[in-house]
Amino acid sequence: METAATPPQQPVDAEAIAGQREHWAATFEANPDMYGTDPSAPALAAAEAFAAGAYHSVLELGAGQGRDTLYLARQGLQVTALDIAPGTVEIISAKTRAAGLTSMVTVAAHDMREPLPLSDDSIDASYSHMLFCMALTTGELERLALELRRVLRPGGLVVYTARTTADAHYGTGTPRGDGMYEHGGFIVHFFNRALIEHLAAGFELIDVCDFTEGELPRRLVRVSMRVPQS
Ligand SMILES: C[S@@+](CC[C@H](N)C(=O)[O-])C[C@H]1O[C@@H](n2cnc3c(N)ncnc32)[C@H](O)[C@@H]1O
Repeated sequence: METAATPPQQPVDAEAIAGQREHWAATFEANPDMYGTDPSAPALAAAEAFAAGAYHSVLELGAGQGRDTLYLARQGLQVTALDIAPGTVEIISAKTRAAGLTSMVTVAAHDMREPLPLSDDSIDASYSHMLFCMALTTGELERLALELRRVLRPGGLVVYTARTTADAHYGTGTPRGDGMYEHGGFIVHFFNRALIEHLAAGFELIDVCDFTEGELPRRLVRVSMRVPQS
């Protein structure tokens, strides 16, 4: 992963961050299937890793309009899909019904800044595409990683993606503090290797893989980390 020079930082803009929930809802309303209906490349990679390791239940964070939720469910995984944006529960539920996958998917509204709505050691794996790099401060990401450690069973696998400091949008647009920049109303927290390793504390960091997506292209990293067996 390339690492750009760190631009000067400013305090976290809590007011701008608070507006993201509604911004995502409005964006999804205006753009049905914003990211398309095909599963993303990291969903394909995660499903392969889950199959290879006999992981059967998956907690998806920031599921959006469900392009990856449906794919994971079609692979036979029991998916719990969470997202903060109003409307996403209805969107994913409707798609799940249409696909005949209701028995495989549970969907709920949830803000990742709050404790995860699952009990300890209750799920095999977690998957999230571009949730960690949303408008979440480093402290909130630390708490989310701790929550994942709590709800995943020993040996549980986390696969997440995030946009990185190699991305063309890093250090540009409106700074929102703590490595976050806003472009077109979307606030993104850009990850570097140090942040990835920091959030992997208490996990075994298995793999960090660069990839691109979309037309910019967005430059991202796919991170795999495992809860130790004991
Ligand atoms: C870049 S989109 C990715 C959506 C989906 N994973 C995909 O790849 O199609 C990020 C998603 O994270 C959700 N999100 C942003 N901040 C969140 C938060 N604090 N808690 C839960 N979801 C959040 C947004 O509503 C949006 O659906």
